[in-house]
Amino acid sequence: MKTTHNKPIVLITAGPTREAIDPVRFISNHSSGKMGYAIAGAFLDQGFEVILVSGPVNISLSHSSLRVIHVDSADEMYAACQQYFPVARIAIFAAAVADYKPAQIYAQKMKKSTQEFSLQMVKNVDIAFEFGKIKRKDQVSIGFALETNDEEQNALKKLYSKNLDLVVLNSVQDEGATFGYDTNKITVINRDFLFQAYPLKSKAEVARDIVMAAIKVSQRLQA
Ligand code: CTP
Ligand code: CA
Repeated sequence: MKTTHNKPIVLITAGPTREAIDPVRFISNHSSGKMGYAIAGAFLDQGFEVILVSGPVNISLSHSSLRVIHVDSADEMYAACQQYFPVARIAIFAAAVADYKPAQIYAQKMKKSTQEFSLQMVKNVDIAFEFGKIKRKDQVSIGFALETNDEEQNALKKLYSKNLDLVVLNSVQDEGATFGYDTNKITVINRDFLFQAYPLKSKAEVARDIVMAAIKVSQRLQA
């Protein structure tokens, strides 16, 4: 990645995280990473330098202004973001970070026995929340909310608790707007309680809408 360009920098998290149980097993989720990667593409189109911190996905993207940092766990994702957050003008938290991780990682592959067993889980770092605490006035952050109930109320809670500038509410009510599909239906909510609902669109178009909304907020801050 050329860093001589003086382009604005955006930091994006994408994909799932993997939380190890032992050397051969992990806990994860079905996030495809498509949305985060589409947002990365849309920022590249707008002339940004993109730092994409990505969990394990089946997508590859390359561009002279793109740096992809591959991570597995939430802790690794957080560590990678810490390096770049200070230089980012915009941060997009699109990753489906596992909320919990096993309390311990077994050094050896666990053997089955005749006994039942249960796994103790501890909370993972909330990446968006941590950066919300140190966000500067000239930085913009955007988070996502995928809810099955009390959608708007839960999205607003995330907007304020994580000190986000915008929260993107993914509608799961509509067919074709869930994990793995190539379409999305979003509502973008800002800190003035302004709800902007978009129609069902391709993920590429949704990404463009999100990027334009982010740039608009950022321009207002820089002005
Ligand atoms: N997020 C994050 N780190 C976490 C959990 C979430 O950065 N450990 C970010 C996501 O990338 C997303 C936003 O926070 O932008 C909301 O994620 P979500 O899973 O919907 O919310 P949670 O705060 O984890 O609450 P819950 O899962 O209970 O709804
Ligand atoms: Ca969560």
